[in-house]
Amino acid sequence: MIIAIDGPAGAGKSTVSKIVAQKLGFLYIDTGAMYRALTLKVLGEKVDIEDTVGIIEVAKSTVIDLVNNPDSSLRILLDGKDVSRDIRQPYISRFVSDIAKIKEVRKVMLGLQRVLGGQRDCVLDGRDIGTVVFPEADKKFYLDANLSERTRRRHKELQDSGQDTSLSDVELDIHNRDTIDSTRKIAPLKKAEDAVCIDTTKMTISEVVDKVLEEIKK
Ligand code: CDP
Repeated sequence: MIIAIDGPAGAGKSTVSKIVAQKLGFLYIDTGAMYRALTLKVLGEKVDIEDTVGIIEVAKSTVIDLVNNPDSSLRILLDGKDVSRDIRQPYISRFVSDIAKIKEVRKVMLGLQRVLGGQRDCVLDGRDIGTVVFPEADKKFYLDANLSERTRRRHKELQDSGQDTSLSDVELDIHNRDTIDSTRKIAPLKKAEDAVCIDTTKMTISEVVDKVLEEIKK
């Protein structure tokens, strides 16, 4: 069984997906983390962000793996190295959407995501899971929330992990990524026609999880 959970930054996708996967005993695949890991490598190797050919080369020669820990946390491995924490830094967020809009990069990720998702029951979260990666998913969700609530959540997450950023910087980042992600030519962020839409603005995590589980059981 494949559960697809898409939506913009800060809508609660990864938190909800992780809990839902754990409750169902499914594999959790954070596809955004894969784009983030690639961005970390590209920036680390000082490839120019405008150098599309160079970025594609890096994408083709990089090994990204996701490991689900028993405690439901997720480890992101970049060429065998754990980068779970590094990929959440604001400078990665600033460039990830420019890298994720490159057609060949998406092709590499798509292949990887289909292999990972084809192995066993899983929950995948991202931007194009229900529309492009697994259009035949058994159940699709589109999580959304208004910009100020999404900003508040992401800001809190960053503060909790010891990263000091201002609310206005976080809002700008989310707004910029939303714009690039939803207007790109290949696999833009949009609700799949058959996705269940949940506005999480006024909902707690457990309310969203319950709603998702209830829909899956239907
Ligand atoms: O957690 P957050 O919502 O900030 O974003 P993420 O899920 O970590 O994804 C980071 C970025 O990767 C997004 O802004 C997109 O540019 C890209 N992405 C994508 O293009 N397609 C996906 N399936 C997942 C992420």
